[in-house]
Amino acid sequence: MKTFSKITDTRDYLQTKRDQGLTVGFVPTMGALHEGHLELMRRAKNENDLLVVSIFVNPIQFNNPEDLLKYPRDVETDKKLLESVNCDILFLPEVEEMYPEEVTKKYEFGNLENVMEGASRPGHFNGVGVVVSKLFDICIPNRAYFGEKDYQQLAIIKKLVSMESIPVEVVPCSIVRENDGLAMSSRNERLTKEERKSAPYIFEVLQEAKENSEFLCANRIKQFVINQFSDREEFDVEYFELADDVDLQPITSLKKDIGTLGFIAVNLGKVRLIDNIRII
Ligand code: PAF
Repeated sequence: MKTFSKITDTRDYLQTKRDQGLTVGFVPTMGALHEGHLELMRRAKNENDLLVVSIFVNPIQFNNPEDLLKYPRDVETDKKLLESVNCDILFLPEVEEMYPEEVTKKYEFGNLENVMEGASRPGHFNGVGVVVSKLFDICIPNRAYFGEKDYQQLAIIKKLVSMESIPVEVVPCSIVRENDGLAMSSRNERLTKEERKSAPYIFEVLQEAKENSEFLCANRIKQFVINQFSDREEFDVEYFELADDVDLQPITSLKKDIGTLGFIAVNLGKVRLIDNIRII
């Protein structure tokens, strides 16, 4: 595996590979790699000649400074995991390399950024848009792989690619879960033992919500989810929303022809977890 920290080195090297006719599959990450990331990478490696991974904890997508400070970092372990999936190129830049000047770019993602994660984390999706657009510009991948756990992020990136006419295929990948149902996330590492035991409850409730959608209306499903958490003091539900699968706008009435997901954000102790489930 080759590791680059400079933009120009990465660009130049990948250009020589493209000139040889090789295709590039790209997985952008913030490190603290887990099986969910590795699944994206295996798929990218399978579907392309070269697997390129970036590790960059992007400061401008954190609206909470404590969250940025506490974000897990362990590059040496990450490198071993990257070797295990035969990663070809790791792009590992410093903040100064990515942002030599103050970032002023403002994207207009419309309604997509005003709901759920966008509403809860002001500036977050602009920060994601800026870094992903920059990473695409550096790596010029044929395909880029994103997990559906961050479903709204995926929708934002599809919108970014369409708005900026970026020649990349965005490939959505299913959520990877632990055996007990907890969606894999770098943040899971920060859960205490007790919190880790409680965490699978989030997906249990989502599954029950899906089952109940056979006979309950949208409002009742939302109420059901909130009620399920009301006597579980360890959880603080930020939102549970039913939304369509394209624009992510709230759904007030379930219809067979409108793809609908249930989205949840929960604080468990000091860790904020998100998850989702397809309802229709
Ligand atoms: O999902 C992530 O890890 C990040 O938001 C991403 C896409 C790497 C951008 O920093």
